Amino acid sequence: MKHDHDTIVILDFGAINSQGAAKIVRNLGVYCEVLPSSAQAEKVKALSPKAIILQRGAECGEATLGKEPAVDPATYGVPVLDLVDKGFDGGAIDAFIASAGMKRDWTTEAFIEEAIADIKEKVGDKRVLLAMSGGVDSSVCAVLVHRAVGKQLTCVFVDHGLMRKGEPAEVCRVFRDQFGIDLVHVDGEARFLGALKGVTDPERKRKIIGETFIRVFEEEARKAGEPDYLVQGTIYPDIIESGLDGGKQVKSHHNVGGLPDTIDFKGLVEPVKYLFKDEVRRVALALGLPKSIAMRQPFPGPGLGVRCIGELTKEKLDILRDADHIFRKAMADDGLDAQASQYFAILTANRSVGVKADARTYGYTVALRAVKTSDFMTAKFVHLPMEFLEKVSAEITANVSQVNRVVYDITSKPPATIEWE
Ligand code: XMP
Repeated sequence: MKHDHDTIVILDFGAINSQGAAKIVRNLGVYCEVLPSSAQAEKVKALSPKAIILQRGAECGEATLGKEPAVDPATYGVPVLDLVDKGFDGGAIDAFIASAGMKRDWTTEAFIEEAIADIKEKVGDKRVLLAMSGGVDSSVCAVLVHRAVGKQLTCVFVDHGLMRKGEPAEVCRVFRDQFGIDLVHVDGEARFLGALKGVTDPERKRKIIGETFIRVFEEEARKAGEPDYLVQGTIYPDIIESGLDGGKQVKSHHNVGGLPDTIDFKGLVEPVKYLFKDEVRRVALALGLPKSIAMRQPFPGPGLGVRCIGELTKEKLDILRDADHIFRKAMADDGLDAQASQYFAILTANRSVGVKADARTYGYTVALRAVKTSDFMTAKFVHLPMEFLEKVSAEITANVSQVNRVVYDITSKPPATIEWE
């Protein structure tokens, strides 16, 4: 990122939490980047660091020595803090920043101003295309690029019919009405459900949704006159995770909507690629995006397609949307949302006998899931209060007529995964 902030380079020796020190440094108002300990001197020098941190503390507090650095850090001639004994001690990092006399000027406002200037310079008078998902990353990118180049931006929102209740309408309202962004809403429900007819295997569903998404997006790109630049909502953990340790993938990112490869873009615009998720959320709020988008929990690219077990039909998806809405609203209303990293409903393939208004029913079983995780690789189920679950169960069965049974998933990951499919 082009700027004149005092910068710390963090050399990572293979610490388990490779983002730990960087998040602390950024939260202390100092810009930093993480490089593998094996980074060549030119890469380090290109960032003109005012100080260097050696990150070898594993979470358990034990040193992870990892690979030796390509260059002795002392040769850079700047203060060096070795976290070998200190782990991710915020106090020690704070004192180090103070003793190195660094400016603490990494703020949300500074980022916004610089990001807009960078986009303006890169894009010039060319046209830009963005795939809007409604998630916080693509939303922040849209507002930043729009502030930079206004009408040169076209956002395409491919609505696959697998969004949660009210989401498509909210995306249109926020971006068109609130921000005045040129947003194309492609109602793809019939096309996606048509392509998915009869398909029950989760991986086949993912593949079909992903491929259909790319095809629809390509068609829209052509209609928009094949803009020169494509915006991508890459964030810093993606870069750290794919760049450290010689490019080892820590987590596979299986988003819907890979790059369309039949369209030649002049280049990519990645406005948030140096931000952590928390920073993206702060930028979102500062830009005036509603809390529902700024704080939105991760939502898989295939959407409700992997939360509605078995064949996807509009009827089943509508049942799931209603039940999921009741659960998520109750979590927020009761202030339990902060306890979970992701929480949602699943429409299971199970149907069972019940009784409603003295009549026998044969209805669906809805499962509720709430998990806490820091990396999505492992997760613990959240111990929601039994009274709360009882209330939600009663509300779902009373208001969603096709559902007569509600269960809570008390499995962590592993052995389960977060999603059911
Ligand atoms: P699992 O179910 O693998 O989920 O424990 C881990 C995280 O990944 C998300 N997820 C997906 N995200 N496309 C996505 O964009 C997918 O196909 C997909 N499958 C799972 C899941 O929501 C969780 O955050």
